[in-house]
Amino acid sequence: MSPKRYLITSALPYANGLKHIGHLAGAYIPADIYVRYLRAQKRDVVFVCGSDEHGTAIPIQAMKEGTTAQAIIDKYHQAMKEDFADLQISFDVYHRTSDPLHHETSREFFTYLHDRGELETKETEQYYDEASSTFLADRFIKGTCPHCKSDRAFGDQCESCGTALSPDELINPVSTISGQAPVKKLTSHWYLPLAKHEAFLKDWILTQHKDDWRASVVGQCKSWIEGGLQSRAVTRDLNWGVKVPLADAEGKVLYVWFDAPIGYISATKQWAIDNNKDWKPYWYDNDTQLVHFIGKDNIVFHCIIFPTMLKLHGNILPTNVPANEFLNLEGDKMSTSRNWKLEMRDYINDFVKKENGGEQCVDMLRYYLTQIAPESKDSEFTWKGFQDAVNSELVSIFGNYVNRTFVLMHKLCNGKVPTFHAEVADEKDQQIANDILATKEKVETSLEQYRFREALFEVIDLARKGNRYMQEKEPWIVAKGLAEDPSKQQLIDNSLHQCLQLTANLAILIQPFLPATAKKMCYMMKVVDKMLDWENAGSMKLLSVGYSLREPQLLFRKIEDQEIAAQIEKLKSGAMQAAPEPAKTNDSTAPLHDLKAEIVFDDFGKIDLRTGIITAAQKVPKADKLLQLEVDLGFETRTILSGIAMHFDPEAVVGQKVVVVANLAPRKMRGIDSNGMILMAEDADGKLHFVSAGEAAKGGWKVS
Ligand code: 2FM
Ligand code: ZN
Repeated sequence: MSPKRYLITSALPYANGLKHIGHLAGAYIPADIYVRYLRAQKRDVVFVCGSDEHGTAIPIQAMKEGTTAQAIIDKYHQAMKEDFADLQISFDVYHRTSDPLHHETSREFFTYLHDRGELETKETEQYYDEASSTFLADRFIKGTCPHCKSDRAFGDQCESCGTALSPDELINPVSTISGQAPVKKLTSHWYLPLAKHEAFLKDWILTQHKDDWRASVVGQCKSWIEGGLQSRAVTRDLNWGVKVPLADAEGKVLYVWFDAPIGYISATKQWAIDNNKDWKPYWYDNDTQLVHFIGKDNIVFHCIIFPTMLKLHGNILPTNVPANEFLNLEGDKMSTSRNWKLEMRDYINDFVKKENGGEQCVDMLRYYLTQIAPESKDSEFTWKGFQDAVNSELVSIFGNYVNRTFVLMHKLCNGKVPTFHAEVADEKDQQIANDILATKEKVETSLEQYRFREALFEVIDLARKGNRYMQEKEPWIVAKGLAEDPSKQQLIDNSLHQCLQLTANLAILIQPFLPATAKKMCYMMKVVDKMLDWENAGSMKLLSVGYSLREPQLLFRKIEDQEIAAQIEKLKSGAMQAAPEPAKTNDSTAPLHDLKAEIVFDDFGKIDLRTGIITAAQKVPKADKLLQLEVDLGFETRTILSGIAMHFDPEAVVGQKVVVVANLAPRKMRGIDSNGMILMAEDADGKLHFVSAGEAAKGGWKVS
């Protein structure tokens, strides 16, 4: 018996920046496939998501961008919402946690737990900035790393050596707000005493779900539980977030990880308001299947902390939490600080919005990201892999099959669905019908167990079988004997009848994965979307005999070598623009001035350093970090791109005397050739300074 209703959630992304394809592959595409499949089965399903707009990540981004927290969430909420829509992620509601409805829902939740004595209070000492009268979140405290002695260490992590830190470990801590040394001050907070719920968690996860949840999810929960469940603070001293609804809680907000998952409930309420429905059964009725799609870094929150909160609040618990591992990019982990990533928006701009029929490109990305989905281990996106998946599978197998079927049907059957003549049918005609039915069942089983890669493979494999069937039947060869034996038309009819019914079935089966493709196929077959109902899959009577169909359209285009080369170049030059990452060292006693390996004089002699004078400067469109400079070297004026736009306004650098690496090989970035490099010095705060050419009166002087 299927459940009465489904509530499907995708992790609420932080509204502090654009999201990359790793996020897309982890929490959004699989959820969307699952939801589209359920909708095709006419099940009662609601798919919710929204922006996570609280936590210190937001004010920190505001500081970085020199604006307010409100401006940051408004900007990124809108941008993420648009990106998801452009990639056909079909949320029923995309809400936001700054919405008053969410604040009210979270406060009610907290009050419910608080009033029933389910929360503890504890007093602890925390760093406090007297100048700004605020307690400092870990990220707002800077100091010297106790391990590598770098000054780029924060209260949560050292940016130089990557070690996780607590504020107490920092040497000479200062507040990033006032620049002053913070003091320790007593503060009290509310805690969720997880240890009290250990027996419940053990039974629910490690016994009841040990076989139907992914092994990696159960494994992570097991080590958490066995490591000893600590009480978790559910409030923070911060002025950004949902205010704690108690009289003695001035200056305190709910911890972002307390309110964010409640965002799923607020989003459901918003959906119910918009659609005149009742939200309550989705959160209280045991006949609801609640499934959270997330990345692996969110497992603990969705499997341990939020379920404990839900249980205490009287809600249903998730039936499954299909967490994905991480997606790497071209041999390396994706990273915002190193700018090693492919943002959804970049793909949208470079592919989807660049040509007519951009929806093909949406499906091409959805296809590849599902094919490589990191379901059981980390996986990797490569541009070559993307090209191969599109060209050798979507174009050559699926697209080719549909196209050949249509072309032959127009050529050999007058553009109409031919009759199936049972009297001359053979076992191959029957086999392909059996294959369709078997594929439908396999796809169902895989999807219901959240194995999306496997499900997609089965659909493509069916198209592969279709190609093989057509190849064996060779209706174009049979047609050559028609003049001699007109009864052969029956054989041609049978093969094209089966091929067309298979095409209709492929449209149904591919629909959850590649919705635009299925839609286009419906257009070609002149059928309404209703044909895509899942219950129709397996039928060999989807297209009526004698029905005339449209001319074929191209379902997918090839990805050319130069597109791939351009993307790889863009990725590399983007990474070059990123702020230089400090050298990592394993030696915790290494001094701050750790030097590169020794070189000989000849190595240095190869570098031709010259004085230069910047004569013009402008920002490079769509490149936050780059300035395009014209530099007078005396003997010529060069265009040089420099990654300093975050540090200097263009007007401020004109006239600056600089030192230029004049014999550096040219490099293209954002379509502009950069001919050389300007030397810069970085201070301990990460601020850049020109290496000045001092008294040089003009460009071109040799520097040695
Ligand atoms: O890791 C993240 O991006 C979080 N913003 C996910 C929150 S999921 C849910 F709890 F809202
Ligand atoms: Zn360090």
